[in-house]
Amino acid sequence: PTPIVLDVDTGVDDACALLLAATHPALDLRAVTCVGGNAPVDDVVRNTLTVLDAVGRSDVPVARGANRPLLEHPRDARHVHGNDGMGDLGWPAPTLRPDERHAVELLRDVCLAAAAAGERITIVPTAPMTNIALLLRTYPDVAAGIAQIIFMGGAAHVGNATASAEFNVFHDPEAAAIALDAAADLSIPVTMYGLDVFYDPVVSREQAAELVAVGGRTGAELAGRLIDFQCHRFGRDAATIGDAGAVCAVIEPEALTTQVLPIRVELAGHWSRGRTIVDRRDWSGDLSHDPHGESSVRVRVALGVDHERYSALWLETIRARAGA
Ligand code: BDR
Ligand code: CA
Repeated sequence: PTPIVLDVDTGVDDACALLLAATHPALDLRAVTCVGGNAPVDDVVRNTLTVLDAVGRSDVPVARGANRPLLEHPRDARHVHGNDGMGDLGWPAPTLRPDERHAVELLRDVCLAAAAAGERITIVPTAPMTNIALLLRTYPDVAAGIAQIIFMGGAAHVGNATASAEFNVFHDPEAAAIALDAAADLSIPVTMYGLDVFYDPVVSREQAAELVAVGGRTGAELAGRLIDFQCHRFGRDAATIGDAGAVCAVIEPEALTTQVLPIRVELAGHWSRGRTIVDRRDWSGDLSHDPHGESSVRVRVALGVDHERYSALWLETIRARAGA
């Protein structure tokens, strides 16, 4: 199995991502690190432990990380994810406890242990990249234990937090810029699973009801109730699996249509701060006259997804593996 670590701000759809990462047999979930984003970090830690508890993964260490962006004021997304950050489901409190290490220290330990064993971890940030920026700048030697970073964030076309910017990048634009820059410095391949694909893999209200019917406080019931919460909140018949798509991208990367493109994170613009500016000009021509060319980093950008494959991957995994 592929060794992975998730960095999350759980989060209704981070919970969907965790359920997949914790149960799919092709993945070896080594740790989960938490960051403030959708909710304050203590809520994120509790929600994350709740999810792992539901699928019996007490073996996975969970660590608390940054509670605020590097420079920005924290702005949560409880209007989307509920007051507790995970759908206000009234689910029982977790019995699991967090690891004592800071998220950055846990990430470092996991990456260095992998490097020592001749392995490389895939890191999947589905949250503001504060922990990841701190990790890569503080401990660049972790690169020896990192295979790739597949992050949910950004977009080539459209925003959600603002007209320009996607929430995770908007929440901590400096961290996103630093993480992408550091990854390029350290030759870590990066894939951006952004809003161009994020909303496409969906699960219907009926499919959610089937999962809820499994009952017994299982991962399947939790998964169904998370999808159902989103359907109600947005008045739709189906809801995105959201961040879980970035985990699907580890398992079935060939379902994505991607292009390697130069990217910059807008840090200065008043209306465009936090936008990922994806340069889609024809790079086969001579663009050496571009005055900004030097400062961009190249990222594999997901521009399309076989969304039915990702919906099925998520749903079938939860049905088969999270119902006990
Ligand atoms: C991202 O923002 C958060 O609200 C979601 O969990 C997801 O990671 C989407 O823009
Ligand atoms: Ca998230």
